Amino acid sequence: MNEFIKVAEVADLQPGEGKTVMAGDRELALFNVAGKFHCIDNVCPHRDGSLGGGVLNDKVVICPLHGWRFDVTTGQSPVIPSAKVEAFEVVVTGNDVKVKI
Ligand code: FES
Repeated sequence: MNEFIKVAEVADLQPGEGKTVMAGDRELALFNVAGKFHCIDNVCPHRDGSLGGGVLNDKVVICPLHGWRFDVTTGQSPVIPSAKVEAFEVVVTGNDVKVKI
């Protein structure tokens, strides 16, 4: 596909917050890190936890099920080298937050 899809509005997420969003039929996790939006796959590679529901600590989200951590700017786990989720490019156009998938 490779196009930008609106997944949220700027006012939907305050700095330090995250949520699960949909881009078409794909579940993504969107985060606001100090005013900048970042997006990764929502599904934790451990046992399918919803990363959008995790607690955000600076730029690292903690999976709500068993605590695996992912850098939301890259999708990479800072703890487990082999654990990574896909990260997506985000643009803000006016009030719209769009993700490239
Ligand atoms: S499902 Fe995410 S840490 Fe287990």
